[in-house]
Amino acid sequence: MTAHSTSPASASARAPSTPDEWEAYFAARWEWLRAPLGQPPGSERDEYEDTAVHRAVFGPEGDVLAIGRLHLVDAANARVRYVGCDPDHRCRGLGRAVMGALEEAAYRRNIRRIHLHAREDAVSFYIRLGYRATGAAPTLYGKIPQTMMEKKLTPPA
Ligand SMILES: CC(C)(COP(=O)(O)OP(=O)(O)OC[C@H]1O[C@@H](n2cnc3c(N)ncnc32)[C@H](O)[C@@H]1OP(=O)(O)O)[C@@H](O)C(=O)NCCC(=O)NCCS
Repeated sequence: MTAHSTSPASASARAPSTPDEWEAYFAARWEWLRAPLGQPPGSERDEYEDTAVHRAVFGPEGDVLAIGRLHLVDAANARVRYVGCDPDHRCRGLGRAVMGALEEAAYRRNIRRIHLHAREDAVSFYIRLGYRATGAAPTLYGKIPQTMMEKKLTPPA
């Protein structure tokens, strides 16, 4: 367990901005979301990276603590993928900070509905953030059951 002091009150999510930050961002995506499923490096990226909205929480020493990405599906709808938090920093509001930043960015782009496929362990997290389950989603890599979820966006507070 690392002894960082990042608290929900201080967590703010932004896009990676330097080559080192981008490298750390994608490395975290693979380490937290793909390596545990036995997937090779490269599996953490898809065809939307160049046009998507990326957000991450960085620690005081520049380490990546939480991540998430949103890509536009059409003029009013977007999908969130690759949401994760460093296992040593979970339950401190960092996932919420990333999702809030993605939703704010989406709203500014006139997106009014976000949908996502939630792993079974993450469904409660998204419910806490105002998402609702709408049905079953494809199983991730044939291993992890997922639920389709959505949220209608309202103006940021
Ligand atoms: C899901 C995940 C991103 C949550 O990140 P986090 O930083 O720990 O979440 P937060 O601390 O911001 O939690 C926000 C709220 O959700 C709740 N919550 C978070 N994870 C939860 C879980 N697994 N079960 C129930 N509630 C949960 C928190 O208690 C908090 O509740 P609050 O409204 O009372 O404050 C993180 O657990 C993770 O990386 N999991 C592994 C990867 C993964 O499953 N990603 C999602 C892919 S769909």
